Amino acid sequence: MKRILTGDRPTYDSFHLGNYIGSLKNRVKLQDEYETYIFIADLHALTTHFDKTADLKENIKGLMLGYLSVGLDPQKVTFFLQSKVPEITELAYILSVLTSRPLIARQPALKEKLDAGEQDTVGLFYYPILMAADILTPRAHLVPVGKDQKSHVEFARDIAVKFNNLYGNVFPIPEPLIGEVPTLPGTDGQSKMGKSLGNAIFLTDSSEEVEKKVMSMYTDPKRIHPTDPGHVEGNPVFTYLDAFGSEADKLQTTNYKLLYSKGQVGDIEVKKYLVKILNNFLDPIRKRRAEYEKQPGLVERILKEGTEKTRLEAQKTLVEVKKAMKIDYFS
Ligand code: TRP
Repeated sequence: MKRILTGDRPTYDSFHLGNYIGSLKNRVKLQDEYETYIFIADLHALTTHFDKTADLKENIKGLMLGYLSVGLDPQKVTFFLQSKVPEITELAYILSVLTSRPLIARQPALKEKLDAGEQDTVGLFYYPILMAADILTPRAHLVPVGKDQKSHVEFARDIAVKFNNLYGNVFPIPEPLIGEVPTLPGTDGQSKMGKSLGNAIFLTDSSEEVEKKVMSMYTDPKRIHPTDPGHVEGNPVFTYLDAFGSEADKLQTTNYKLLYSKGQVGDIEVKKYLVKILNNFLDPIRKRRAEYEKQPGLVERILKEGTEKTRLEAQKTLVEVKKAMKIDYFS
């Protein structure tokens, strides 16, 4: 079975609907088709959060609960914590001696982070090398990521090719798997939902919070009265209805679109319908989360066991790497 690796930086403690549509949903599907490794990139988080380390523990727990709540199954998925697999940093060092410095100096992601005000540290510069090591340590074949991460996966690919050419075939050549899903807009109509943008609905929001957020959602600014013909296209209320409604909801949604564009239904009625749809979608997620939260130590144990399993794999890889490089002086 082919192996997948993907992960998240624990810079937040809760996933939102945009994270779900953009990646979690796909992971839930992939867990049945691939041997799946999902990890929490706490070392990568340090590149921008070295002065906010007090939050990391809570964030790690929050992300784990998020994974489990959407139905990622610990029987199928191996979860691990990056900093607890020291073979990754060891491999990263080895990859670094094969890496062209000017090439990684030109990575667009670095420029973006510096433009956003991040400090120009060696750790930030090193980001793609550590990421390549994340991917190559468990010898992953496929890496599901967002468009913005594609160049990092391509770097991992190039460095795997270079290693194999120099020392012999140790690594499968990893491929990025870019989801073609459109980005979910924020509740304020901005093109992207984001925690820091204050326009997100979280998987952990209560039904009352969801209601409050939806009822004050941005819709069609040109529409003043419910009898004005409204725009469905680009209206986030309808984008959410399409993204989260079940098959059974489709007919009603189509009906509302028609009425809305003719000025025959008010925003409030459509929003109330969306509240119902979102809460129907979130209820099983809330329930699963509560089940996991009810059992003390369970989430920690899942992460720990997955990390131990990953470490065994990682150690095997490092043995192969050193053997191939003839730096296995003694054992
Ligand atoms: N850079 C990724 C992000 O910011 C997180 C990440 C780190 C990752 N290492 C990875 C994703 C390896 C996939 C594979 O989203």
